[in-house]
Amino acid sequence: MRSLRWTVGGTPEIMGLQVADRLRQCLEGVKAPLICPASGTTPAPLYHELVRRHRAGTMDLGAWNFVGLDEWIGLNGSDEGSCRWWLDKDLFRPLGVGEDRICFFDGRAADLAGECATTERFIAERGGMNVVILGIGTNGHIAMNEPGTDVAARSRVVTLHPTTQSVGQKYFTRQTVLEKGITLGLGTIREARHIFLLATGEHKASIIQQALEGPVSADVPASLLRDHPGLEVWLDEAAAGKLGG
Ligand code: PGA
Repeated sequence: MRSLRWTVGGTPEIMGLQVADRLRQCLEGVKAPLICPASGTTPAPLYHELVRRHRAGTMDLGAWNFVGLDEWIGLNGSDEGSCRWWLDKDLFRPLGVGEDRICFFDGRAADLAGECATTERFIAERGGMNVVILGIGTNGHIAMNEPGTDVAARSRVVTLHPTTQSVGQKYFTRQTVLEKGITLGLGTIREARHIFLLATGEHKASIIQQALEGPVSADVPASLLRDHPGLEVWLDEAAAGKLGG
């Protein structure tokens, strides 16, 4: 197996700058890229940097298309704290992205299987995803693919791990029911050309060590990405703290 490399950026902000540079490189010459941006705390500095560059005219994101990675069941962009709500705030609205360039799970939809089919079709019709930007849960989850997940899984509704249900409260101003999610599957994610896995903070050091240096196992879903030829791991000093290197 190819030996996995990772980049340690120092602070989350420096990591954001580095990943923005790398995104530009990966998308050079691509006319209408399809990007899948995770919501969450980790990629926020990257999104701020992308918005800054777009506004400054140093990077043109005007032709980028976006597909949602995941959403809580029962919520959509009209709910403060939902995945779509955060991305609207940090990325889509500041960039002025029109609805025609976004496909995003509606966790309030009556037909959730239809949401999954629409999302998979949106990706296929655009020739696949150029880059998926991922965080990692402290339990090793990728998007809402929880421990025990099937590496070949497609978009689907899942029951969330108790850790995800409790950690997820941090995105909301009031207690919110987070029992289920709708998510791209690992099989869908693995079809992307580039997978950027981002982690920052000491609380991620242990799971990053397991994901990168422990056994490849469905117990740690992130480890199932290790053999992907387009995987790049971006860490700050704190998240890299337990790696043997
Ligand atoms: P975080 O979430 O970036 O807010 O830590 C990561 C995740 O749960 O995937």
